[in-house]
Amino acid sequence: MGTYLDRIGAGLVLAHPEVFGFDYVPQELVGREHAQKELASMFVGLAHPEGTGRAVVTGPVGSGKTALVKRFCVDMIRHLSNARSIKNVHVNCRNATTASRVIQKVIKDLDPGYPDRGLGVGELLTSLRRMIIAESVHLIIVLDEVDHLLRHGGDDVLYKLLRIDEDMDSTGTLSLILISQEQILDILEGAVISRMGRSNHLRLPPYNENGLLAIARQRAKAGLTNGSYSDETLVLIAQAAAPTGDARRVIELLEGSARRAEIQGRNSIDSKDVQRTVITHSINVDLLDIDRLPVHSMILLLGLCRKIRRTGTITSGETEQNYKVVCEEFDEKPKGHTTVWKYIKQLAQDEKVEGGKGRTQHITMPHMLPSDVARRLELLIPARLK
Ligand SMILES: Nc1ncnc2c1ncn2[C@@H]1O[C@H](COP(=O)(O)OP(=O)(O)O)[C@@H](O)[C@H]1O
Ligand SMILES: [Mg+2]
Repeated sequence: MGTYLDRIGAGLVLAHPEVFGFDYVPQELVGREHAQKELASMFVGLAHPEGTGRAVVTGPVGSGKTALVKRFCVDMIRHLSNARSIKNVHVNCRNATTASRVIQKVIKDLDPGYPDRGLGVGELLTSLRRMIIAESVHLIIVLDEVDHLLRHGGDDVLYKLLRIDEDMDSTGTLSLILISQEQILDILEGAVISRMGRSNHLRLPPYNENGLLAIARQRAKAGLTNGSYSDETLVLIAQAAAPTGDARRVIELLEGSARRAEIQGRNSIDSKDVQRTVITHSINVDLLDIDRLPVHSMILLLGLCRKIRRTGTITSGETEQNYKVVCEEFDEKPKGHTTVWKYIKQLAQDEKVEGGKGRTQHITMPHMLPSDVARRLELLIPARLK
């Protein structure tokens, strides 16, 4: 292995890389105390053996919706552990756009051995209800990015879940939390929100610079080595992310700056690392003609972005695997090997990605922020497939 790789994993700056993973939820959320109290107030009934709760959480990208709800469920289950046995299933509806897929995911989470038998929605619901009662638990179902489900599968399943106890000799079987981006609130307006209860609607505002700074401080403390950053550095990062109000952005800039310092063999981040990271990460995605790619090239790029966002690089082989996964997500039949390779080559030629010349060749995305590109593609692809 070449010596140019020696510094990777040296841990000069990045003490705990996992802290920057996009699934990571910190023990304490900073600056969301008020929202946490509001959410808790929607679930006061849970302490009673037959009580249930409902909530709709909306807000812009990176306002901490997913983190807030995940943290809440874990804390709540622990808090009530002496009073009631509660379980929680978190379904991202981007990967489950129909009623039966959603219920299947919930069931699989409770019982990984449950057979895929192509059951209808009614039968699946009956199974789910039976499982919950057999285990004598209360189930909190979280439907994250629920707009994907509402758009494809309609809202029927929500009502079915809410009425799961009706005409049965059971009560208080499940609670429901819906999460969605603010922009598509119109899909939720009317029926869904009024069914869930208007007073159960929690709206998260975007973070301001101070909010982002607090998050940067917390993440730096948890993930970086002692003395590898100054507070001024964190201020720079928070300023750069402030126009988006997106917590993910501040975390990505922090991680990017840390990687940059580390790869150069330094043990602390300086302001140039931040500047360079901001510059390379700030090319406006709209300028990159992503909209003009063939739709399967978009799908491929989305799979690639999701991996690069987490690990910084992807091999061509993994790109092809990820492509197939994303095809499934959108119910598209994958194109053959040769076509996939053509797309990879084309993306590299257009400088949207770098690398990708042989099967194990590593592909990176030095000119764009993968999460920005992914976010854009997640809007473009469904529109194109319509
Ligand atoms: N108040 C907060 N304190 C600490 N980390 C936060 C906070 N809000 C968001 N984050 C982090 O920012 C990132 C984006 O948050 P996320 O919940 O995924 O946003 P959303 O679901 O609204 O798009 C996640 O890594 C999350 O852990
Ligand atoms: Mg989210």
